Amino acid sequence: MIFYFTGTGNSLYVAKNIAQYNDTELISISSELSDSKEFYNYTLKSNEIVGFVFPVYAWGPPKMVLDFIDKLKLSSYNANYIFAAVTCGANIGNTIKLLDEHLSSRGLLLKSGFSIIMPSNYIIGGDIDKDEVQEKKIAEASETLKHINEIIKRRKEDIFEIDKGYFSGVLTSVINPLFNKHISNTKKFHVNDNCTGCGICKSVCNCQTITIDRKPAWGEMCVQCLACINLCPVKAISYGKSTQNRGRYKNPYISIDELKIIPDEN
Ligand SMILES: Cc1cc2nc3c(=O)[nH]c(=O)nc-3n(C[C@H](O)[C@H](O)[C@H](O)COP(=O)(O)O)c2cc1C
Repeated sequence: MIFYFTGTGNSLYVAKNIAQYNDTELISISSELSDSKEFYNYTLKSNEIVGFVFPVYAWGPPKMVLDFIDKLKLSSYNANYIFAAVTCGANIGNTIKLLDEHLSSRGLLLKSGFSIIMPSNYIIGGDIDKDEVQEKKIAEASETLKHINEIIKRRKEDIFEIDKGYFSGVLTSVINPLFNKHISNTKKFHVNDNCTGCGICKSVCNCQTITIDRKPAWGEMCVQCLACINLCPVKAISYGKSTQNRGRYKNPYISIDELKIIPDEN
């Protein structure tokens, strides 16, 4: 089973690829967390793989991923093969170390970990990658995935193919906690008159913090996945002043429907 978290589809693209190759099921962490529980229980089959696939946020795992792991109970766990695949625009610092600490506290052993460079969606920090850079990153990622899939299929242990970048220790231990302290401030999100009230921002919000009364309003819980800004079909949403003139990003192989936290009722 693969537990995934995604804002704009890169991590879902990776999770789907690994799940298909290794013939296992996909579970959305945000969809599971939307049903608030004391613990999240799953029963493993013998030799079943357990994957955690998510984007890096400020050189650490998204807070929701760690919150989920802290409440995770895997029944029939018998040293099953556990791996992590972390998508990033450039590098991931000591994300794997943080993840490993949380898994260990649940008695779970991380056997391998990978970072996979994908187009950046962090439009608060800078513009999106140019089209040709996006295409190159996705093409290279799909080659990397062939290699990662073989490692996972063979259950190879102690393989950590990670781009930590420079100053990984400081970035993860100093900047990441500061980031997590300030992200729940949603006051900088605003919406312009292009908004049609379509509700896509609400349905893709990982924290389910957005309410719509003709236009979206943000509650207090936010992990800054930026799905709302990036996936708005009419570019009506911005954050502060810097994002207005920047591009928007969605993984081209993932549909908006796949990114909805609570699927539409048909
Ligand atoms: C809040 C936030 C913080 C980010 N921090 C980093 C970072 O520290 N290093 C990095 O290389 N990319 C960073 N990124 C880029 C994303 O990790 C990357 O684009 C990822 O593939 C997005 O995955 P998704 O489409 O599954 O949401 C950040 C993105 C967001 C939204």
